[in-house]
Amino acid sequence: MSEDGTDRREALRLFVLGGIAAAGCALAAPAAFVVAAPARGGASKETWVPTVRLDALEDGVPKKVQVVSERNDAWTKESHVELGSAWLVRRGATVTAFSSICPHLGCAVNAEAGGTFTCPCHTSAFAADGAAVSGPSPRGLDTLTTRIDGGVVVVDFRRFKVGTPDRIALT
Ligand code: FES
Repeated sequence: MSEDGTDRREALRLFVLGGIAAAGCALAAPAAFVVAAPARGGASKETWVPTVRLDALEDGVPKKVQVVSERNDAWTKESHVELGSAWLVRRGATVTAFSSICPHLGCAVNAEAGGTFTCPCHTSAFAADGAAVSGPSPRGLDTLTTRIDGGVVVVDFRRFKVGTPDRIALT
């Protein structure tokens, strides 16, 4: 140690800086965890929602159903939240679900006689299998995965990016 206490002052300085750095990390880590929390539950999360009984669907006739579920994120928990809607089309024992959102710019699509679909906003038209037939929609209707659970049609509800030819799930 030097006579003028330089070593002692340097050691004290390093000790104080180390303490400040440790305190900073201790505060920053939980803050980063909290800020990132909503994103962690994000894009790949499945949201299985029961809709209607399979026997309530007429074969080949689209039926629009509201998709109502709980919504949980890092901050809130809500029940009976309308997530959106879907068109269900039964073919025998299987059900195809289409998002009711037009892939062009997001208007709600309608079902037409014969089981086809149209969008009233910019006249996109879709075949019964959801394929784009005419109009500006860059892709066909987006399908949602379904399963039959105890006679009830259950839908994995998602939203998709509009205005792109690729099908990109947002939720
Ligand atoms: S939003 Fe459907 S055609 Fe434009």
